Amino acid sequence: MSRLTTRYLGLELRTPLVASAGPYTRTPESALRLQEAGASAIVMPSLFEEEVAREQDELSRALDQGSESFAEALNYFPALAAVESTAERYLASVSEMKQRLDIPVIASLNGTSPGGWAYFAGEIEQAGADALELNLYRIAADPAQTGAAVEERDVEVVRRVRQATRLPLAVKISPAYSALANHAVRLIEAGADGLVLFNRFYQPDIDPDSREVIPRVSLSEPWELRLPLRWLAILRPLSAGRACLAASSGVASGVDVAKALLVGADVAMTTSALLRHGREHLATMERELMAWLDANEYFTVEELRGSVSYAASDDPAAFERANYLRVLRSWNPPNELTTRPQLP
Ligand SMILES: Cc1cc2nc3c(=O)[nH]c(=O)nc-3n(C[C@H](O)[C@H](O)[C@H](O)COP(=O)(O)O)c2cc1C
Repeated sequence: MSRLTTRYLGLELRTPLVASAGPYTRTPESALRLQEAGASAIVMPSLFEEEVAREQDELSRALDQGSESFAEALNYFPALAAVESTAERYLASVSEMKQRLDIPVIASLNGTSPGGWAYFAGEIEQAGADALELNLYRIAADPAQTGAAVEERDVEVVRRVRQATRLPLAVKISPAYSALANHAVRLIEAGADGLVLFNRFYQPDIDPDSREVIPRVSLSEPWELRLPLRWLAILRPLSAGRACLAASSGVASGVDVAKALLVGADVAMTTSALLRHGREHLATMERELMAWLDANEYFTVEELRGSVSYAASDDPAAFERANYLRVLRSWNPPNELTTRPQLP
């Protein structure tokens, strides 16, 4: 056991630095380079059920057309059989990653139907993944659906997947729930072994000239870590001994990893920083984390974990509402404003 050894989803990891789902975890070649740079585990990009469903629709349409002309259909079927589907490619990729990597491979799934989530979870287990992350990414745009119904659906997904697989299960959620602490506890009770805080929503842009909606991915900035930090601190005592926690969003340096661990994360995940600085940035982050531990006289990451969480903090209110006032008052106006008379 080394100074950085960590447990996440029941897996023993060399360090708390995990490469989250993104372009660099897509192929075995790229994942190998992440491993060389020091990733202690990788999360593969999500298998999207809607993509699989769209492909199946196109296939059935093609078969329907083919069946209208028998001679043509005879030529058509062997060619179709040879085409690998998105789901098959994904599962083959899971198996190949497992064969070629020494570090744990966490697959990721984004489903649309409760049955779909459960079915593919079973397939991913068969393919040999070490764990599964459920990517619960949805925009609650239906005015007929209540917050409680949205949450219940997520809980039901976790319950169904829990029944369908024995794989360790992480659930990646967004911060956009009205009662996040309650929802997080319900997800754990439904069978989540870990929570990943948080998924980032990608806001589409509008091209004013063409009037088209343009999908835009912007990489995160380090300040975005503050939202996960608050919720990690609040959820740490609620999840202790029942589920582990991962920080995701804005983790860009070794000091960011230390901050995430201080408030109670078991691992810190990163994507944007690697896309910005290259896969080798993982090695830099590990060196920075070690330097931080030395400078602050912690021997292992275990010692610092959770020491600033909501339960352990001298000032738990710092994570809650009282902090609001302090934050607003903490803003120092630029010089030209400081000469104005103070409001009472
Ligand atoms: C180009 C790109 C692709 C991504 N693909 C996925 C994905 O397939 N599944 C998923 O759960 N998250 C995906 N993410 C989100 C990341 O895993 C991560 O949660 C998010 O970028 C926040 O972390 P960061 O601040 O370190 O980038 C993607 C992010 C980027 C930038």
